[in-house]
Amino acid sequence: MTQYDAIILGAGAAGLFCAAEATRRGRRVIVLDHAQRPGEKIRISGGGRCNFTNRELTRQNAPEQFLSENPRFALSALSRFTPADMIARVDAAGIAWHEKHRGQLFFDGKAWQLVDLLLADLRAGGEIGLGCSIETVRQGAQGFEVVTSDGILRAARVVVATGGKSIPKLGATGLGYRIAESFGLRLTETRPGLVPLTFAEQDLARTAPLAGIGLPARVSLGKRSLEEDLLFTHRGLSGPAILQISSYWREGDALTIDLAPGRDIAAELAAIRAETGRIALHTALGRLLPDKLAALAVAQSGLSGRLADHGNRALAQLAAQVQAWQVRPVGSEGYRTAEVTVGGVATEALEAKTLEAKQVPGLHFIGEVVDVTGWLGGYNFQWAWSSAWAAAQVL
Ligand code: FDA
Repeated sequence: MTQYDAIILGAGAAGLFCAAEATRRGRRVIVLDHAQRPGEKIRISGGGRCNFTNRELTRQNAPEQFLSENPRFALSALSRFTPADMIARVDAAGIAWHEKHRGQLFFDGKAWQLVDLLLADLRAGGEIGLGCSIETVRQGAQGFEVVTSDGILRAARVVVATGGKSIPKLGATGLGYRIAESFGLRLTETRPGLVPLTFAEQDLARTAPLAGIGLPARVSLGKRSLEEDLLFTHRGLSGPAILQISSYWREGDALTIDLAPGRDIAAELAAIRAETGRIALHTALGRLLPDKLAALAVAQSGLSGRLADHGNRALAQLAAQVQAWQVRPVGSEGYRTAEVTVGGVATEALEAKTLEAKQVPGLHFIGEVVDVTGWLGGYNFQWAWSSAWAAAQVL
């Protein structure tokens, strides 16, 4: 029976990267996955072009851009294998990329190029076992035993890279959490993140006609406020602004949304009134905002008639419908569509430098299974690469 230096569980972003890096360092590894194809989330990410990192990520801002019980935990790995290191790796392979928005880097071509690159590195000395169900991990006489549908494998080290619970259709099972618990490691509460939010029937009845409308918005939740695009859907709200805030949102929280950020709709209406006060209120607002949104805002304000019939106070009241819209989502679309799982293996249980369990030497947890969740925009893949690289240095 082959004795491996390490068995890596999960051939997703973190597992593949870790296996490739360990193989480059001359280690004998095998990566196992129950899926038939490795790196499925890499392939479909970023609309097939993979937002593979974010070059605005720095040591200073990282604690803000990652959610975790300990937002400083990720710093060690993130500063040892940085976005610049990932860019250098991609450049060396001749994979072209471009910056889209706020430091977000995407490939010019297809995301599978990266999967192929990692597989080529891995196959130079390592192995991959696909379609392999992992049952349990236990400590044996010498190192670890991984019990699988294909038999028992043994290694001095095991790296758990099985991701979170997001998108079961793409292979997510939560196995990593069960392994952590079986070794006595604490889990933090898990919930869907980077996920569309849903409305109650009565809110949906009002907003459903707006489904498909996208526009820039400032979304605020408590003291947190961000400006990005927002999309009305048949279930509620989506778009980058909502996905981003969803990772912080808890049941019962209300959002305050400005659908015309950086503008003063009341003043713009007053300016139109000074020129053509005879037009209907909803026609005037329709000059400033999408028609259906303008119609809904007017209906919600309880105002009607001509623009000239209304003083500044009424215009401010109407503007508030779109610039200080208060809405209380009832839920999210859940793990079915969530891009990530917030929470996971508690960071206090792990060494920040190696991602090794403090109480179980030789057992590592990397990527999304750990309680480290990035913002939208390449931060989650960067965590997968950085944590994988950090673990690979000691395999
Ligand atoms: P990942 O989920 O990639 O891999 C886990 C692997 O473990 C899978 O291959 C799975 O099959 C396997 N596995 C699970 N349970 C198992 C079991 N019981 N037995 C055997 N194998 C098992 N991030 C970003 O930075 N930029 C982006 O553009 C995007 N885009 C994006 C789009 C979509 C649609 C999604 C769903 C997610 C993103 N993300 C993203 C997030 C990113 O994909 C995610 O953070 C990483 O893939 C996490 O990497 P991991 O390797 O930890 O888990």
